[in-house]
Amino acid sequence: MNMDQLKRQAAARALEDVRDGMQLGLGTGSTAKHFVELLGERVRAGLKVIGVPTSEATRLDAIRCGVPLTTLDEIDHLDITVDGADEIDPELNLIKGGGGALLREKIVAAASDRMIVIADDTKWVPTLGGFPLPVEVIPFGLGATRRAIEKAFAECGVSGQMAVRNGKDGHVFVTDGGHWILDAQLEKIEDPARLATALSAIPGVVEHGLFIGLASSAVLAGGEGIRVIE
Ligand code: 5RP
Repeated sequence: MNMDQLKRQAAARALEDVRDGMQLGLGTGSTAKHFVELLGERVRAGLKVIGVPTSEATRLDAIRCGVPLTTLDEIDHLDITVDGADEIDPELNLIKGGGGALLREKIVAAASDRMIVIADDTKWVPTLGGFPLPVEVIPFGLGATRRAIEKAFAECGVSGQMAVRNGKDGHVFVTDGGHWILDAQLEKIEDPARLATALSAIPGVVEHGLFIGLASSAVLAGGEGIRVIE
């Protein structure tokens, strides 16, 4: 089974938890896209749900698949958010934002009763940090923000190179919120909760890709089958 089939399997397993009448957060990325497509099939077969997309890309996918959409201004909570991740540790802490949607993803996950993470099992790691940590920043004052981030890294016992993310067109990648992303290659983040708190305290940081205590379960698809971790 190839990687894409594994991602679809994880998405299909998460779909089993979806019930009629639910309000759903719709994640971003190639795995979440499978979920939106499978959800669309169920909607066309009569399932009644409504979704809040975590990116413009997912909004367009959901429209294409016939999934009705709403916003967090129109409803007061979400039952489940289903989203992918770049890394998942045994505490269900995550690195997210490889697709650049971390800000909306975190707002939507935080507004949900449950967050189900779907992934192929290569995303499962003993310690976060192998995947570059995305930090979404305001372009104004970037030099000062970078220095403050480096100081936070040093205080939290991590170090590594940071670079402004470029898009496929070679220009600076701009998020749906109009911000930039710094990708930090840190290797091992021994205390992700501490680093998350330190980064959140920096004025020019809009959000970062450490999702601490937000995921309720992870559905991991691998060669041996599906594992659900809670
Ligand atoms: C986007 C994300 C994605 O969920 C993450 O990058 C995983 O993507 P994929 O399912 O394509 O591996 O956080 O911001």
